Amino acid sequence: MRRNMDVFRVGLFLLIIGGVSAQVQLEPQNAAVLRGSKAHFNCSTTQSLSVMTWIVNGRLVLTILEMGVLNSTERFSARNLTTPGNYKWEFTISTVQRDDAGEVTCQVLGGDPRIATLSVQERGNVEIIGGNRTEIEGVQMELECQAIGWFPKPNVSWSINGLSMGNCNSSSIAQGNLFNSNCSLKLTAVKNSSVQCFVSVPALSTPESSTVFLTVESTKKATIRDQTVLISVTVAFSAAALLFLLIFGIIFCCKRRKRKKSTYHDEVRRAQSQSQNRMPANVRGRDNRGYITDGRDVRDTNGGIWHTNFNKQQMPYAINNFNEDDLRKHRHATIV
Ligand SMILES: *[C@@H]1O[C@H](CO)[C@@H](O)[C@H](O)[C@H]1NC(C)=O
Ligand SMILES: *[C@@H]1O[C@H](CO)[C@@H](O)[C@H](O)[C@H]1NC(C)=O
Ligand SMILES: *[C@@H]1O[C@H](CO)[C@@H](O)[C@H](O)[C@H]1NC(C)=O
Ligand SMILES: *[C@@H]1O[C@H](CO)[C@@H](O)[C@H](O)[C@H]1NC(C)=O
Ligand SMILES: *[C@@H]1O[C@H](CO)[C@@H](O)[C@H](O)[C@H]1NC(C)=O
Ligand SMILES: *[C@@H]1O[C@H](CO)[C@@H](O)[C@H](O)[C@H]1NC(C)=O
Ligand SMILES: *[C@@H]1O[C@H](CO)[C@@H](O)[C@H](O)[C@H]1NC(C)=O
Repeated sequence: MRRNMDVFRVGLFLLIIGGVSAQVQLEPQNAAVLRGSKAHFNCSTTQSLSVMTWIVNGRLVLTILEMGVLNSTERFSARNLTTPGNYKWEFTISTVQRDDAGEVTCQVLGGDPRIATLSVQERGNVEIIGGNRTEIEGVQMELECQAIGWFPKPNVSWSINGLSMGNCNSSSIAQGNLFNSNCSLKLTAVKNSSVQCFVSVPALSTPESSTVFLTVESTKKATIRDQTVLISVTVAFSAAALLFLLIFGIIFCCKRRKRKKSTYHDEVRRAQSQSQNRMPANVRGRDNRGYITDGRDVRDTNGGIWHTNFNKQQMPYAINNFNEDDLRKHRHATIV
């Protein structure tokens, strides 16, 4: 402040001596820089330069005298850009800090102070939630872009295949002296696309971006895939069922053949006896021409029934042609 007073006194002295007001220009009027970067300001005057002071947020940080630069530090420096007839100095703030934000003043002795505004901004992160996506054609989907740790409130915008979708009406919440923004994009899955979310603040020459790839599966392809799956499953099941049936069938057949073999003779015997029993009584021994029913039956060794007594008068039709001996002979033959 003492220096300030000194400068002031010198200025006052010069003003009194010269009695002229210097024309001073400060550029730019507004500067927006990212924290940690550099901020530059040009201050120029047509008057022969005696004293130039630079004040950041009310704090005198640099003095330039005719003989040279005073109190130059790593953070605050100046460069002589004087050309004939134009006294010009470039003031640089390096590693800009958040509390540098505000007013930057250039004061030339004998001139009005010129004030510029410095905005210190923050670059945060940007991410499209969920990353790459695969959707079925025609599906309505929503993408969400998240910007975290920005200052001031960032502008968020979308682009699809390089085509801008305009600024997003994003919602921002402050977290400390930073902002978080969310922005969603509704779209219909039509074709394979690259979707980008851009986040920017004025200090950023090129926006930060996040890119995801949207792969669109045509419904036809999806159906074909489904059908393929269905067919595969069906075929697999059918094969399994067929195999089972085959095995079952083989086992069943084997069992059955075994049983058939063992019962074959029984069956034949049963069938024989049944056919004999089924014969009516008047048909029995029909192939024996000497057969006569006289009420008395004799069982032969084979279980057949034969008649022993023979009565000529009761002989049936064909038997009349036989003589008794023939008959007897025949009978004998039959019996034995
Ligand atoms: C200051 O002026 C010089 C040339 O005269 C120019 O190259 C530079 O970009 C200027 N700086 C600012 C911050 O305007
Ligand atoms: C600035 O540059 C001009 C022209 O090159 C020169 O005449 C002047 O002495 C310089 N001023 C200082 C303080 O270095
Ligand atoms: C400016 O620099 C001089 C000498 O280098 C020093 O004595 C003085 O305290 C400094 N003033 C400020 C405000 O830094
Ligand atoms: C998204 O897909 C692109 C190209 O297909 C690939 O380069 C990138 O790594 C993928 N990103 C993620 C997060 O998987
Ligand atoms: C953005 O949202 C605000 C409130 O949520 C609304 O008033 C405004 O009209 C919206 N702007 C656009 C362009 O959608
Ligand atoms: C989309 O991309 C996938 C994988 O890269 C490809 O198989 C498919 O054919 C593409 N679809 C279109 C419509 O280009
Ligand atoms: C956001 O975009 C609008 C329109 O493009 C612009 O007027 C505004 O300055 C931008 N704000 C920031 C913080 O980039």
